[in-house]
Amino acid sequence: MRFYYPNWNADLPMPLYTFLEEYDFSGKTIIPFTTHGGSGFSRTVQTISDLQPDATVITDGLSISRNSVAEAEDEVVNWVNGLNLATE
Ligand SMILES: Cc1cc2nc3c(=O)[nH]c(=O)nc-3n(C[C@H](O)[C@H](O)[C@H](O)COP(=O)(O)O)c2cc1C
Repeated sequence: MRFYYPNWNADLPMPLYTFLEEYDFSGKTIIPFTTHGGSGFSRTVQTISDLQPDATVITDGLSISRNSVAEAEDEVVNWVNGLNLATE
């Protein structure tokens, strides 16, 4: 599961806490993908792991500065293609 979120106060936005508290992704792989204002992932990846202790959380996801979003399409496409995810 690719998991997109913006960095808010160096952590996940609260609605995403609710989402991860509500659903069980045990046994799944979570691939973090964030946009940020300069802080990168901050503690977001740790928070995902804490809320989904039985999921595998990839620690080298993709983080994009909000200042680079407009030019980031190729980077995002290459990253997604490099993940070799099933398309079905
Ligand atoms: C409430 C709030 C808190 C934020 N806190 C941070 C932060 O701690 N570190 C950071 O790098 N960016 C922070 N940002 C910037 C967002 O990560 C950035 O604006 C967002 O990823 C870009 O998407 P947007 O166009 O939806 O704002 C914050 C933004 C908001 C609205």
